[in-house]
Amino acid sequence: MSRQLHLGGFQIASQVTHSNAAWRHPGSTGNYFDPGYYHRLGRTLERGKFDFVFFADLLAGPSRYGGGIAEGLRRGTQATATLDPTLVATSIAAVTQKLGVAVTKSTTYFHPYEIARSYGTLDHITSGRAGWNVVTSLNEAEAQNFGADGHLEHDLRYDRADEFLRVTEQLWDGWDADAIVADKASGVYIDPGKVRAAHHQGEFFNVRGPLNVPRSPQGRPVLIQAGSSNKGKDFAAKWAEAIFEIDPTPEGRRAYYDDVKSRVSNFGRDPEQVKILPAVLPFIGETESIAREKQAFHNELADPISGLITLSTHTDHDFSQHDLDAPVEDLQVPGTQGLFDVAAASAPATRSPSATSASSTPRACSCRSSSAPRATSPTSSRPRGRAAKPTGS
Ligand SMILES: Cc1cc2nc3c(=O)[nH]c(=O)nc-3n(C[C@H](O)[C@H](O)[C@H](O)COP(=O)(O)O)c2cc1C
Repeated sequence: MSRQLHLGGFQIASQVTHSNAAWRHPGSTGNYFDPGYYHRLGRTLERGKFDFVFFADLLAGPSRYGGGIAEGLRRGTQATATLDPTLVATSIAAVTQKLGVAVTKSTTYFHPYEIARSYGTLDHITSGRAGWNVVTSLNEAEAQNFGADGHLEHDLRYDRADEFLRVTEQLWDGWDADAIVADKASGVYIDPGKVRAAHHQGEFFNVRGPLNVPRSPQGRPVLIQAGSSNKGKDFAAKWAEAIFEIDPTPEGRRAYYDDVKSRVSNFGRDPEQVKILPAVLPFIGETESIAREKQAFHNELADPISGLITLSTHTDHDFSQHDLDAPVEDLQVPGTQGLFDVAAASAPATRSPSATSASSTPRACSCRSSSAPRATSPTSSRPRGRAAKPTGS
């Protein structure tokens, strides 16, 4: 069987995805709050044969760096002005035919019934193109926005997420595909024998059910995950059909791939059915030197403090307290340890991880683009049917 490349367009419904420089670029003309911008984006990805558009999401603005939100707001860093991605994805789906639409929602701050309902609806309304990036959330600011005393401890977040997915699975599977009878003559709309309640009573949730959304075309959304801790990788291996990873080195990517694929086998799943998608931030040019020129120009627009604000948000650690030129060693952060480790591993020996991260949210990505040649537009080899569901290897 020929090998097939899968492509996801990684977005945040805002002025910033991974490059704090992008919105400052003279070629960036988007109105990030206008439906036309997202429609154009969706149509472009579909024309380029992408499997899906994916929207990341955070539930709070960046307040960890320096203990306040003003710096982040002023610089327009990630998560300062972001639209609800589910609604944006629905709008994109209305103007595309095959493109999968995958959206992030947190198992820490939402409820399984609400999520099962929302993604069941998204899958119906997109004719079976819905995907869910399952996250456990990152920081205290998100906890505060949802009235929690504090952000749940790391491993407990994954325990909650596991129960969360068991509940949503039960709710989605509570409907047989042929439950809707719609027999006008007899007046029977739904066959009650084909709809079952969940009657779930667990450690984190009590949910009776049944769901009041009928079975959707895919039965459930494609599940995506990006765990990088031990517990996170097990969670991804148990549940996900597509897994994101961001290691900047070929050795790191290979190690992650081998590790997660063997965990998938340990859960009795077929590793071929789980796709691992490494991140690249491509600079596109007619020749390599044009692409590199574009990259260099883009990098000149990168704001080091915005990089540190974003790193502080994701790690839930205040990087304003570190000297930019001093090494930061063996730091354990309460948020994403994996991102900090990647930043630390990318740091030249003479510079601190914080200095490197500051200047290189975009630069780290350009390293990836040079390790995987991307001077020309990537294309996948053949059109897909149900676009959100990766099927090749
Ligand atoms: C490509 C990628 C996208 C992610 N998107 C989100 C997101 O949208 N929202 C979020 O809260 N976390 C997001 N994360 C964070 C992960 O869900 C996860 O918390 C993080 O990788 C740390 O994993 P760990 O808790 O297993 O260490 C993303 C991570 C990666 C690598």
